[in-house]
Amino acid sequence: MHIMNDRFLKALQRQPVDCTPVWIMRQAGRYLPEYRQTRAKAGDFLTLCKTPELACEVTLQPIRRFELDAAILFSDILTIPDAFGLGLSINEGVGPKFERPLRNKGDVERLPEIDIDAQLGYVMEAIRLTRIALANKTPLIGFSGSPWTLATYMVEGGGSKEYRYVKGMMHDQPAVAHKLLSKITEAVIGCLKGQANAGAQALMVFDTWGGVLTTPDYDNFSLDYMAQIVSAIKSDPNTVDIPITLFTKGGGHWLEKIADSGCDAIGLDWTMSMSAARQRVGQRVALQGNMDPTVLYASSEKVEQEAKRVLDDFGGGDGHIFNLGHGIHPTINPDRVATLVNTVHRESKRT
Ligand code: CP3
Repeated sequence: MHIMNDRFLKALQRQPVDCTPVWIMRQAGRYLPEYRQTRAKAGDFLTLCKTPELACEVTLQPIRRFELDAAILFSDILTIPDAFGLGLSINEGVGPKFERPLRNKGDVERLPEIDIDAQLGYVMEAIRLTRIALANKTPLIGFSGSPWTLATYMVEGGGSKEYRYVKGMMHDQPAVAHKLLSKITEAVIGCLKGQANAGAQALMVFDTWGGVLTTPDYDNFSLDYMAQIVSAIKSDPNTVDIPITLFTKGGGHWLEKIADSGCDAIGLDWTMSMSAARQRVGQRVALQGNMDPTVLYASSEKVEQEAKRVLDDFGGGDGHIFNLGHGIHPTINPDRVATLVNTVHRESKRT
């Protein structure tokens, strides 16, 4: 099928584009008044995720406002832990909380198997509705959390600063940690394949907490499982052509081995220089990133200047997908996003 705007999919394959594509992590969210309105209508965040018509509506909101080159399904990485039955709630100001965190071997052994279609069917339905609504004008990204990042929430029971319980499990009971990561990996693979089969045209894995690990622990407890996910996607004839991006926040030291996973693109946070990253792995993968999200609090002149700096840092040529280095903050003025998107397109126009 013909896609009108294929800059994003082309850039993922490091093919020539007319200008650098741009989308924004958390582009559908609280900084948009229309999002707050739809969330109020749903009642709460999880109901919004689980109501395909509303998830579709919220996915489209930033696409209507800005000239974004990709849509990302409105959902959350915590839908998989929720499907495992841990009693998830997500409230503004509190963040995600699980009533029944996994703390020991018995908890991990008792974890039920997930029936993806039955329990996460709402995700696939939201993708089907969104693909119809997008009418091939803008490609749609599906996603999941990395097994390690999902494990941190499932073991800690919410956000954490020290990772006392999940790192405790990793250090003292590595076999239990691996058992848990394997169970999560199986669910992630099922969920990503389901999203691709429902119509997602690219996939992304968010490893928000991989960067808190030592290098050997990153290899064994995060990257190895993400590599299993990439091989599962690439060895299935139904999903072999779906590009997959891995994003480890704080993962700048590990780019070569992230590229070894066979992924198509690597997401970079703002601490890493695009040109250094490109020198290290740019012949093998596309690079996504990496403006500091807090720049969007500054003047529009500063936003333009910084967008140009990031484009110059990448240095022209193909294989760049412009994004922030992490999600957009809820108190950003949406006008700054318009400035950013327009600047990226204007300043990267190929002649
Ligand atoms: O990017 C998008 O627009 C798609 C939707 C999306 C959300 N979360 C919506 C959301 C995506 C891709 C995510 C990923 C996600 N969720 C990650 C990985 C990316 C990252 O930011 O590192 C993580 C770690 C989560 C877990 C999560 N979900 C947290 C920590 C929170 C609370 C955050 C907060 O500031 O309160 C959520 C809730 C959440 N997910 C919101 C949104 C728009 C805010 C919920 C609300 O409406 O109050």
